[in-house]
Amino acid sequence: MSDSERTLYDEIRDFLKAEQQVYGAFSVPDPEKAVFDESAEEVSVSAEEAKKEYTVDEKEPEYLLPLEDKLKKCTTLEQLKVLCESADELRTDLEGTNLVFGVGNPQADLMLIGEAPGEQEDIKGEPFVGAAGRLLNKILEAIKFNREDVYIANILKHRPPGNRNPNVEECEASLPYLHRQIEIIQPKLILCLGKISGNTILGTDVSLKKMRSEKHQFRGIELFVTYHPAALLRNPQWKRPTWEDVQAVRKRYDELGGRP
Ligand code: URA
Ligand code: URA
Repeated sequence: MSDSERTLYDEIRDFLKAEQQVYGAFSVPDPEKAVFDESAEEVSVSAEEAKKEYTVDEKEPEYLLPLEDKLKKCTTLEQLKVLCESADELRTDLEGTNLVFGVGNPQADLMLIGEAPGEQEDIKGEPFVGAAGRLLNKILEAIKFNREDVYIANILKHRPPGNRNPNVEECEASLPYLHRQIEIIQPKLILCLGKISGNTILGTDVSLKKMRSEKHQFRGIELFVTYHPAALLRNPQWKRPTWEDVQAVRKRYDELGGRP
């Protein structure tokens, strides 16, 4: 190999190494060590074929797409779940937590949105399966829903440490994913459980009492806010007003022709 060939080779190798940084691993053998099969027949390749063979696919790798585009590409909950699994921005500062994506009927007309997974939810990878979840099941039963009829999700998809409240950054990072989840499910009604859920979805900072008493819409979907089941466990006196809220939800659900 002449010096000028060596220089050209080195330049090409440096270029490929830089490409490797961006596009991932491939190997560049040293030509001095490369083994060529001298006996191989020369194959003539038409210009068309050569072009086809050597045209680099210039489509951007998926992971470099803006989040908005990645979310739009998800048209099913399964696809969105896969995206959530790889989304580091959904993680909290508690290490090694499981994704708690959501559960229920993908065609649900009623979607319930809680706050964040707790210990039991993290272990099972399913929202509302601990003590608050058991109370939620009873609340749903009281208005003639099974868990399987509705869809249940949280603002956060990972458990915060020590069951602390989600912080603003965590809520903001999770919202685009939740918005896409709502778009895919297209419920007729949304029920937010607790102040953090209502405030985050509605983008306000008003009290739970005020949110309960008003009519809301989220992107054209009617939205109710009521007490969080965990709050009811600590404050049984809020069960009565919650009962009234969910009766109103059931009534509106039937008026809107919700199934079943
Ligand atoms: N509390 C929530 O807000 N969500 C759960 O999934 C469990 C408890
Ligand atoms: N405060 C909350 O954050 N949630 C409730 O459900 C009630 C009061």
